[in-house]
Amino acid sequence: MYLTPEEERMMAGESGPTLQKAMEILVALGDIYEADRLIPIKSAQIAGVSYKTMGDAGLEWISDLEGKVQVPSILNPAGMDLERWQEMGVSAEFAEKQQEIIEAYGSLGIGVQCTCTPYYLQSFSATYGDHLAWSESSAVSYANSVIGARTNREGGPSALCAALVGKTANYGYHLDENRIPELMISVDCELDASDYAVLGYIAGKAAGKRVPLFKMRSTPHRDQLKALGAAMAASGAVALYHVEGVTPETCRKDFEPPAEQLTIEKSQIDEVYETVSGDGITECDSAAVGCPHCSPEELEDVAAKLEGKVVDNNVWIFTSREVAVSNPKIVESIERSGAKVLCDTCMVVSPATDKFSHMAVNSGKAYAYLPGMCKVAATIANIEKCMEKGGGAHSD
Ligand code: F3S
Repeated sequence: MYLTPEEERMMAGESGPTLQKAMEILVALGDIYEADRLIPIKSAQIAGVSYKTMGDAGLEWISDLEGKVQVPSILNPAGMDLERWQEMGVSAEFAEKQQEIIEAYGSLGIGVQCTCTPYYLQSFSATYGDHLAWSESSAVSYANSVIGARTNREGGPSALCAALVGKTANYGYHLDENRIPELMISVDCELDASDYAVLGYIAGKAAGKRVPLFKMRSTPHRDQLKALGAAMAASGAVALYHVEGVTPETCRKDFEPPAEQLTIEKSQIDEVYETVSGDGITECDSAAVGCPHCSPEELEDVAAKLEGKVVDNNVWIFTSREVAVSNPKIVESIERSGAKVLCDTCMVVSPATDKFSHMAVNSGKAYAYLPGMCKVAATIANIEKCMEKGGGAHSD
Protein backbone atom coordinates (compact mmCIF):
# COMPACT_ATOMS: atom_id res chain seq x y z
CA MET A 1 0.00 0.00 0.00
CA TYR A 2 1.33 3.43 -0.92
CA LEU A 3 2.05 5.73 2.05
CA THR A 4 2.82 9.44 1.82
CA PRO A 5 6.08 10.63 3.41
CA GLU A 6 4.06 11.97 6.38
CA GLU A 7 2.31 8.60 6.84
CA GLU A 8 5.70 6.85 6.63
CA ARG A 9 6.97 9.08 9.44
CA MET A 10 3.92 8.27 11.59
CA MET A 11 4.53 4.55 10.93
CA ALA A 12 8.12 5.02 12.08
CA GLY A 13 6.90 6.46 15.39
CA GLU A 14 7.97 10.07 14.78
CA SER A 15 4.54 11.33 15.92
CA GLY A 16 4.44 9.20 19.06
CA PRO A 17 3.42 5.64 19.99
CA THR A 18 -0.36 6.13 19.68
CA LEU A 19 -0.25 7.28 16.06
CA GLN A 20 2.35 4.61 15.30
CA LYS A 21 0.01 1.93 16.68
CA ALA A 22 -2.97 3.44 14.83
CA MET A 23 -1.04 3.47 11.54
CA GLU A 24 0.10 -0.13 12.03
CA ILE A 25 -3.52 -1.26 12.44
CA LEU A 26 -4.77 0.73 9.42
CA VAL A 27 -1.94 -0.50 7.22
CA ALA A 28 -2.41 -4.11 8.34
CA LEU A 29 -6.11 -3.88 7.37
CA GLY A 30 -5.21 -2.19 4.10
CA ASP A 31 -2.76 -4.98 3.27
CA ILE A 32 -5.32 -7.71 4.06
CA TYR A 33 -7.96 -6.10 1.82
CA GLU A 34 -5.47 -4.96 -0.85
CA ALA A 35 -6.10 -1.24 -0.43
CA ASP A 36 -3.96 1.00 -2.65
CA ARG A 37 -3.67 3.89 -0.12
CA LEU A 38 -5.22 5.68 2.82
CA ILE A 39 -8.03 8.16 2.14
CA PRO A 40 -9.23 11.07 4.31
CA ILE A 41 -12.45 10.56 6.26
CA LYS A 42 -15.07 13.12 7.33
CA SER A 43 -16.07 11.48 10.62
CA ALA A 44 -15.84 8.37 12.81
CA GLN A 45 -18.42 6.47 14.87
CA ILE A 46 -16.73 4.25 17.39
CA ALA A 47 -18.22 1.05 18.83
CA GLY A 48 -16.78 -0.73 21.84
CA VAL A 49 -18.10 1.57 24.54
CA SER A 50 -20.12 -0.57 26.93
CA TYR A 51 -18.08 -1.94 29.81
CA LYS A 52 -20.24 -5.06 29.40
CA THR A 53 -18.53 -5.86 26.09
CA MET A 54 -15.14 -4.14 26.62
CA GLY A 55 -14.23 -5.32 30.10
CA ASP A 56 -11.00 -4.25 31.82
CA ALA A 57 -8.79 -5.16 28.84
CA GLY A 58 -10.66 -2.70 26.59
CA LEU A 59 -10.60 0.01 29.23
CA GLU A 60 -6.86 -0.43 29.64
CA TRP A 61 -6.27 -0.22 25.87
CA ILE A 62 -8.21 3.05 25.52
CA SER A 63 -6.61 4.56 28.63
CA ASP A 64 -3.10 4.00 27.24
CA LEU A 65 -3.78 6.04 24.08
CA GLU A 66 -2.65 9.65 23.73
CA GLY A 67 -3.36 12.56 21.41
CA LYS A 68 -6.58 13.79 19.81
CA VAL A 69 -8.87 12.59 17.05
CA GLN A 70 -8.47 14.44 13.73
CA VAL A 71 -12.14 14.35 12.63
CA PRO A 72 -15.52 14.72 14.39
CA SER A 73 -16.01 11.45 16.27
CA ILE A 74 -18.87 10.00 18.26
CA LEU A 75 -19.43 6.93 20.42
CA ASN A 76 -21.80 4.00 20.13
CA PRO A 77 -24.19 3.32 23.06
CA ALA A 78 -22.63 2.68 26.46
CA GLY A 79 -23.81 0.16 29.06
CA MET A 80 -26.07 2.60 30.90
CA ASP A 81 -27.85 5.93 30.81
CA LEU A 82 -24.97 8.12 31.99
CA GLU A 83 -27.32 10.12 34.23
CA ARG A 84 -30.10 7.65 35.21
CA TRP A 85 -28.10 4.45 35.59
CA GLN A 86 -29.43 3.84 39.11
CA GLU A 87 -33.03 3.85 37.84
CA MET A 88 -31.99 1.16 35.35
CA GLY A 89 -30.66 -1.02 38.17
CA VAL A 90 -27.01 -0.79 37.06
CA SER A 91 -24.51 -1.47 39.86
CA ALA A 92 -22.20 1.25 41.22
CA GLU A 93 -19.14 -0.87 40.29
CA PHE A 94 -20.26 -1.12 36.66
CA ALA A 95 -21.11 2.60 36.57
CA GLU A 96 -17.65 3.55 37.81
CA LYS A 97 -15.91 1.49 35.11
CA GLN A 98 -18.31 2.81 32.45
CA GLN A 99 -17.53 6.41 33.43
CA GLU A 100 -13.80 5.66 33.19
CA ILE A 101 -14.29 4.42 29.61
CA ILE A 102 -16.26 7.55 28.66
CA GLU A 103 -13.59 9.78 30.21
CA ALA A 104 -10.79 7.91 28.41
CA TYR A 105 -12.55 8.46 25.07
CA GLY A 106 -13.26 12.08 26.05
CA SER A 107 -9.58 12.74 26.69
CA LEU A 108 -8.93 11.76 23.05
CA GLY A 109 -11.29 14.54 21.96
CA ILE A 110 -14.28 12.28 21.21
CA GLY A 111 -17.71 13.85 21.81
CA VAL A 112 -19.69 12.26 24.61
CA GLN A 113 -22.82 11.44 22.62
CA CYS A 114 -23.35 7.69 22.76
CA THR A 115 -25.68 6.71 19.95
CA CYS A 116 -26.08 4.33 17.04
CA THR A 117 -28.10 6.96 15.11
CA PRO A 118 -25.56 9.79 14.77
CA TYR A 119 -27.31 10.83 11.55
CA TYR A 120 -30.23 12.25 13.60
CA LEU A 121 -27.94 14.72 15.38
CA GLN A 122 -27.80 18.33 14.23
CA SER A 123 -24.19 18.41 15.35
CA PHE A 124 -22.91 15.42 13.36
CA SER A 125 -23.82 15.34 9.70
CA ALA A 126 -22.72 13.09 6.85
CA THR A 127 -23.52 13.71 3.20
CA TYR A 128 -23.58 11.88 -0.13
CA GLY A 129 -20.14 10.67 -1.20
CA ASP A 130 -18.40 11.33 2.15
CA HIS A 131 -15.84 8.72 3.21
CA LEU A 132 -16.42 7.71 6.85
CA ALA A 133 -15.17 5.21 9.41
CA TRP A 134 -18.30 4.14 11.26
CA SER A 135 -18.58 0.89 13.16
CA GLU A 136 -22.07 0.14 14.45
CA SER A 137 -23.69 -2.11 11.86
CA SER A 138 -27.04 -0.30 11.54
CA ALA A 139 -25.32 3.10 11.38
CA VAL A 140 -22.99 1.75 8.69
CA SER A 141 -25.97 0.46 6.71
CA TYR A 142 -27.80 3.80 7.03
CA ALA A 143 -24.71 5.81 6.05
CA ASN A 144 -24.02 3.69 2.96
CA SER A 145 -27.59 3.19 1.84
CA VAL A 146 -29.78 6.09 2.97
CA ILE A 147 -27.18 8.87 2.94
CA GLY A 148 -25.06 7.47 0.11
CA ALA A 149 -21.85 8.02 2.10
CA ARG A 150 -19.10 5.36 2.06
CA THR A 151 -17.94 3.30 5.00
CA ASN A 152 -16.89 -0.22 5.75
CA ARG A 153 -18.24 -1.95 8.84
CA GLU A 154 -15.28 -0.95 10.99
CA GLY A 155 -14.40 -2.67 14.22
CA GLY A 156 -14.28 -0.37 17.26
CA PRO A 157 -10.43 -0.28 17.31
CA SER A 158 -10.09 0.36 13.56
CA ALA A 159 -12.66 3.20 13.70
CA LEU A 160 -10.72 4.72 16.59
CA CYS A 161 -7.42 4.40 14.69
CA ALA A 162 -9.03 6.03 11.64
CA ALA A 163 -10.30 8.88 13.86
CA LEU A 164 -6.81 9.44 15.32
CA VAL A 165 -5.12 9.45 11.90
CA GLY A 166 -8.05 11.12 10.07
CA LYS A 167 -7.85 8.46 7.34
CA THR A 168 -8.92 4.93 6.52
CA ALA A 169 -7.74 2.29 4.06
CA ASN A 170 -9.32 2.52 0.60
CA TYR A 171 -11.12 -0.79 0.12
CA GLY A 172 -14.58 -2.40 0.34
CA TYR A 173 -17.53 0.02 0.24
CA HIS A 174 -15.24 3.00 -0.44
CA LEU A 175 -14.88 1.67 -4.00
CA ASP A 176 -17.54 1.94 -6.74
CA GLU A 177 -17.16 -1.67 -7.85
CA ASN A 178 -18.22 -3.03 -4.44
CA ARG A 179 -21.39 -0.95 -4.31
CA ILE A 180 -23.10 -2.61 -7.30
CA PRO A 181 -26.29 -4.57 -6.44
CA GLU A 182 -25.90 -8.34 -6.55
CA LEU A 183 -29.41 -9.51 -5.71
CA MET A 184 -32.80 -8.06 -6.67
CA ILE A 185 -35.50 -8.40 -4.00
CA SER A 186 -39.04 -7.56 -5.12
CA VAL A 187 -41.45 -6.85 -2.29
CA ASP A 188 -44.85 -7.77 -3.59
CA CYS A 189 -47.09 -6.02 -1.02
CA GLU A 190 -47.77 -2.78 0.81
CA LEU A 191 -45.87 -2.50 4.10
CA ASP A 192 -46.49 -0.59 7.28
CA ALA A 193 -44.42 0.41 10.34
CA SER A 194 -42.74 -2.65 11.86
CA ASP A 195 -43.14 -4.69 8.64
CA TYR A 196 -39.83 -3.15 7.51
CA ALA A 197 -37.98 -4.70 10.47
CA VAL A 198 -39.46 -8.10 9.66
CA LEU A 199 -38.74 -7.67 5.94
CA GLY A 200 -35.13 -6.86 6.87
CA TYR A 201 -34.96 -9.93 9.07
CA ILE A 202 -36.06 -12.15 6.14
CA ALA A 203 -34.00 -10.32 3.48
CA GLY A 204 -30.82 -10.30 5.58
CA LYS A 205 -30.93 -14.08 5.89
CA ALA A 206 -31.35 -14.40 2.11
CA ALA A 207 -28.72 -11.80 1.17
CA GLY A 208 -25.94 -12.76 3.59
CA LYS A 209 -23.10 -10.34 2.72
CA ARG A 210 -24.39 -9.38 -0.72
CA VAL A 211 -25.69 -5.94 -1.75
CA PRO A 212 -29.45 -6.17 -2.37
CA LEU A 213 -31.52 -3.89 -4.58
CA PHE A 214 -35.15 -3.65 -3.44
CA LYS A 215 -38.07 -3.01 -5.69
CA MET A 216 -40.97 -1.94 -3.46
CA ARG A 217 -44.58 -0.95 -3.89
CA SER A 218 -44.51 1.40 -0.89
CA THR A 219 -42.04 4.26 -0.55
CA PRO A 220 -40.32 3.87 2.82
CA HIS A 221 -39.37 6.92 4.90
CA ARG A 222 -36.07 7.30 6.75
CA ASP A 223 -37.12 5.50 9.95
CA GLN A 224 -38.44 2.56 7.95
CA LEU A 225 -35.20 2.41 5.95
CA LYS A 226 -33.30 2.49 9.25
CA ALA A 227 -35.34 -0.47 10.57
CA LEU A 228 -34.87 -2.40 7.32
CA GLY A 229 -31.08 -1.90 7.30
CA ALA A 230 -30.61 -2.65 11.01
CA ALA A 231 -32.45 -5.97 10.71
CA MET A 232 -30.52 -6.98 7.56
CA ALA A 233 -27.21 -6.19 9.23
CA ALA A 234 -28.19 -8.41 12.16
CA SER A 235 -29.81 -11.42 10.47
CA GLY A 236 -27.28 -11.28 7.61
CA ALA A 237 -24.23 -9.06 7.20
CA VAL A 238 -25.66 -6.50 4.79
CA ALA A 239 -23.78 -3.19 5.06
CA LEU A 240 -25.22 -1.57 1.93
CA TYR A 241 -28.57 -1.91 0.17
CA HIS A 242 -30.42 0.06 -2.46
CA VAL A 243 -34.12 0.77 -2.90
CA GLU A 244 -35.09 1.52 -6.48
CA GLY A 245 -35.95 5.20 -6.92
CA VAL A 246 -35.60 5.91 -3.19
CA THR A 247 -32.00 5.64 -1.98
CA PRO A 248 -29.66 8.33 -3.37
CA GLU A 249 -27.37 6.05 -5.36
CA THR A 250 -30.23 4.50 -7.36
CA CYS A 251 -31.57 7.99 -8.03
CA ARG A 252 -28.21 9.07 -9.47
CA LYS A 253 -26.96 5.88 -11.11
CA ASP A 254 -28.47 3.40 -13.50
CA PHE A 255 -27.66 0.00 -12.03
CA GLU A 256 -28.14 -3.09 -14.20
CA PRO A 257 -30.79 -5.32 -12.56
CA PRO A 258 -28.88 -8.18 -10.87
CA ALA A 259 -29.26 -11.61 -12.44
CA GLU A 260 -30.31 -13.24 -9.19
CA GLN A 261 -33.81 -12.27 -8.13
CA LEU A 262 -36.24 -13.21 -5.39
CA THR A 263 -39.67 -12.07 -4.28
CA ILE A 264 -40.84 -11.57 -0.70
CA GLU A 265 -44.59 -11.68 -0.14
CA LYS A 266 -46.82 -10.48 2.68
CA SER A 267 -47.52 -14.06 3.72
CA GLN A 268 -43.80 -14.53 4.53
CA ILE A 269 -43.83 -11.41 6.72
CA ASP A 270 -47.03 -12.56 8.48
CA GLU A 271 -45.46 -15.96 8.99
CA VAL A 272 -42.54 -14.38 10.88
CA TYR A 273 -44.97 -12.53 13.16
CA GLU A 274 -46.84 -15.78 13.78
CA THR A 275 -43.83 -17.96 14.38
CA VAL A 276 -41.76 -15.52 16.40
CA SER A 277 -44.55 -13.67 18.16
CA GLY A 278 -47.33 -16.17 18.64
CA ASP A 279 -48.72 -15.75 22.15
CA GLY A 280 -45.21 -15.20 23.54
CA ILE A 281 -45.89 -11.51 23.88
CA THR A 282 -48.34 -12.08 26.73
CA GLU A 283 -45.49 -13.66 28.72
CA CYS A 284 -43.25 -10.59 28.42
CA ASP A 285 -42.08 -8.90 31.60
CA SER A 286 -40.65 -5.92 29.71
CA ALA A 287 -40.83 -4.04 26.43
CA ALA A 288 -38.25 -1.91 24.67
CA VAL A 289 -38.33 0.35 21.64
CA GLY A 290 -35.41 2.24 20.13
CA CYS A 291 -33.11 -0.24 18.42
CA PRO A 292 -31.62 1.64 16.60
CA HIS A 293 -32.14 4.75 18.75
CA CYS A 294 -35.46 6.55 18.17
CA SER A 295 -35.84 9.59 15.96
CA PRO A 296 -38.02 12.51 17.18
CA GLU A 297 -40.87 11.17 15.00
CA GLU A 298 -40.62 7.72 16.55
CA LEU A 299 -40.70 9.23 20.06
CA GLU A 300 -43.80 11.13 19.04
CA ASP A 301 -45.41 7.93 17.82
CA VAL A 302 -44.67 6.16 21.13
CA ALA A 303 -46.07 9.15 23.05
CA ALA A 304 -49.29 8.98 21.03
CA LYS A 305 -49.66 5.26 21.71
CA LEU A 306 -49.14 5.76 25.46
CA GLU A 307 -51.37 8.84 25.76
CA GLY A 308 -53.72 8.44 28.76
CA LYS A 309 -52.32 4.99 29.62
CA VAL A 310 -50.23 3.52 32.42
CA VAL A 311 -47.81 0.62 31.95
CA ASP A 312 -47.48 -2.30 34.37
CA ASN A 313 -44.22 -3.82 33.15
CA ASN A 314 -40.90 -2.14 32.53
CA VAL A 315 -41.11 -0.20 29.27
CA TRP A 316 -37.89 1.37 28.03
CA ILE A 317 -37.59 3.74 25.08
CA PHE A 318 -34.03 4.34 23.86
CA THR A 319 -32.79 7.43 22.06
CA SER A 320 -29.77 9.71 21.90
CA ARG A 321 -29.34 12.39 24.54
CA GLU A 322 -29.47 15.13 21.90
CA VAL A 323 -32.82 13.93 20.55
CA ALA A 324 -34.27 13.55 24.09
CA VAL A 325 -33.06 16.98 25.20
CA SER A 326 -34.44 18.61 22.04
CA ASN A 327 -37.89 17.07 22.59
CA PRO A 328 -38.69 17.57 26.30
CA LYS A 329 -42.47 17.66 25.91
CA ILE A 330 -42.58 14.34 24.07
CA VAL A 331 -40.28 12.74 26.67
CA GLU A 332 -42.48 14.09 29.47
CA SER A 333 -45.59 12.76 27.77
CA ILE A 334 -44.09 9.24 27.42
CA GLU A 335 -42.87 9.21 31.01
CA ARG A 336 -46.32 10.15 32.36
CA SER A 337 -47.33 6.56 31.53
CA GLY A 338 -44.54 5.13 33.69
CA ALA A 339 -42.36 4.20 30.70
CA LYS A 340 -38.77 5.51 30.77
CA VAL A 341 -36.96 7.37 28.01
CA LEU A 342 -33.32 6.36 28.39
CA CYS A 343 -30.29 7.82 26.63
CA ASP A 344 -26.69 6.79 25.88
CA THR A 345 -27.46 3.06 25.99
CA CYS A 346 -29.73 0.30 24.70
CA MET A 347 -31.43 -2.96 25.64
CA VAL A 348 -28.64 -5.05 24.07
CA VAL A 349 -25.46 -3.42 25.42
CA SER A 350 -26.69 -2.68 28.95
CA PRO A 351 -26.33 -5.32 31.69
CA ALA A 352 -29.58 -3.92 33.14
CA THR A 353 -31.57 -6.00 30.62
CA ASP A 354 -30.29 -9.26 32.11
CA LYS A 355 -32.82 -9.07 34.97
CA PHE A 356 -35.73 -9.63 32.57
CA SER A 357 -36.80 -12.97 31.21
CA HIS A 358 -38.81 -11.99 28.11
CA MET A 359 -38.78 -8.67 26.24
CA ALA A 360 -41.19 -7.38 23.58
CA VAL A 361 -39.36 -5.44 20.86
CA ASN A 362 -40.26 -3.88 17.51
CA SER A 363 -36.75 -4.31 16.12
CA GLY A 364 -35.37 -7.12 13.98
CA LYS A 365 -31.90 -6.42 15.38
CA ALA A 366 -32.93 -6.51 19.05
CA TYR A 367 -34.93 -9.65 18.30
CA ALA A 368 -31.83 -11.28 16.79
CA TYR A 369 -29.39 -10.20 19.56
CA LEU A 370 -31.27 -10.33 22.89
CA PRO A 371 -31.26 -14.12 23.35
CA GLY A 372 -27.51 -14.46 22.63
CA MET A 373 -26.11 -11.31 24.21
CA CYS A 374 -28.45 -10.95 27.19
CA LYS A 375 -29.94 -14.44 27.65
CA VAL A 376 -33.38 -12.80 27.44
CA ALA A 377 -36.15 -14.28 25.26
CA ALA A 378 -37.51 -11.83 22.69
CA THR A 379 -40.76 -11.39 20.84
CA ILE A 380 -41.12 -9.08 17.86
CA ALA A 381 -44.27 -7.06 17.30
CA ASN A 382 -45.36 -3.57 16.26
CA ILE A 383 -45.00 -0.68 18.75
CA GLU A 384 -48.67 -0.82 19.72
CA LYS A 385 -48.49 -4.47 20.72
CA CYS A 386 -45.12 -3.99 22.44
CA MET A 387 -46.67 -1.26 24.59
CA GLU A 388 -50.02 -2.91 25.22
CA LYS A 389 -49.11 -6.54 25.64
CA GLY A 390 -45.40 -6.46 26.48
CA GLY A 391 -45.67 -3.39 28.69
CA GLY A 392 -49.16 -4.14 29.97
CA ALA A 393 -50.39 -0.67 29.04
CA HIS A 394 -53.98 0.08 30.01
CA SER A 395 -56.19 3.13 30.40
CA ASP A 396 -55.52 5.23 33.46
FE1 F3S B 1 -28.25 0.51 18.51
FE2 F3S B 1 -28.15 -1.13 20.50
FE3 F3S B 1 -29.72 -1.66 18.51
S1 F3S B 1 -26.45 -0.13 19.59
S2 F3S B 1 -28.74 -0.75 16.77
S3 F3S B 1 -29.90 0.08 19.89
S4 F3S B 1 -28.43 -3.12 19.55
